[in-house]
Amino acid sequence: MRILKPSDIPATEITPREVYLKRRQFLAGMAALAAAPALSAPAPPAHGARLAGIQASRFSTSEAKTPFDAVTTYNNFYEFGTGKSDPAENAHTLKTRPWAVAVEGAVKRARVYDIDELLKLAPLEERIYRLRCVEGWSMVIPWVGFPLAALIRHVEPTGNAKFVEFVTLHDPRQMPLQRSSVLDWPYVEGLRIDEANHPLTLLAVGLYGEVLPKQNGAPLRLVVPWKYGFKSAKSIVKIHFVEKAPLTTWMKAAPNEYGFYSNVNPQVDHPRWSQAKERRIGEFFKRETLMFNGYADQVARLYRGMDLRTYF
Ligand code: MTE
Repeated sequence: MRILKPSDIPATEITPREVYLKRRQFLAGMAALAAAPALSAPAPPAHGARLAGIQASRFSTSEAKTPFDAVTTYNNFYEFGTGKSDPAENAHTLKTRPWAVAVEGAVKRARVYDIDELLKLAPLEERIYRLRCVEGWSMVIPWVGFPLAALIRHVEPTGNAKFVEFVTLHDPRQMPLQRSSVLDWPYVEGLRIDEANHPLTLLAVGLYGEVLPKQNGAPLRLVVPWKYGFKSAKSIVKIHFVEKAPLTTWMKAAPNEYGFYSNVNPQVDHPRWSQAKERRIGEFFKRETLMFNGYADQVARLYRGMDLRTYF
């Protein structure tokens, strides 16, 4: 695109000074009007449709849940901005119906699922999980979803399926920050096949009994509670079974800071900060971060014999 220099603009297109000043007054008035609601209390986060027939899960923690308002207004979803409140403010441009999810690669029954078919694939469960973000904060979220293992059973992976790649929608018209290069789009994450098949690994379609809000990754996101939050790819359109470990978005962005495994581990610091403690959103004092985010009894066996400093 060519940028005009002042000398390129014909004299006939230069606005007379008084018209220009009147227009400025008008624009200032408009800006004041637009800013007015910001002076009163911010609008409470919108609630979505209720999901029916949700079963409780034995995998839920009994810890206090982070309030709905915090879960839905303090987010990381770089496609809509890098600030914590940006996703809640901007994700309304995302269109979540119709929505197709391609399940492909090293499987016997590759196919494209409509999101509403996926919702009927397995009984929906409420799973109250801790979510630990690599930045040092945590939440307790009542997700609604079904085990990824239920979908994996349907598509029958072949012996070559050693890893699973998860790909987010790539559409800069709906996701404005995909026009920038803050990350290499689309957002890609990955799991080893045994991690993907682990009963704790969830495909979430809701939270707090409601359809997943857009800022939380509607209509379908991954939740892997023993790993840092960035592993849980949002707004998934492709689940790809592959032979080699996928190169994830954060590994591309900073390979010395983000490894493939990204298991929550208080003994392995991020190169720029400690991971020993975390702040639970809504609490004042920090708490100790637990190995595998408190899920060691269920998942430590997956990593037996591995040096978790090398495979961070
Ligand atoms: N998925 C996509 N597509 N884009 C993102 O920027 N951020 C990740 C993860 N999934 C992200 C994403 C990070 S860093 C975290 S901590 C979690 O989403 C945050 O999920 P939440 O906003 O629902 O708490």
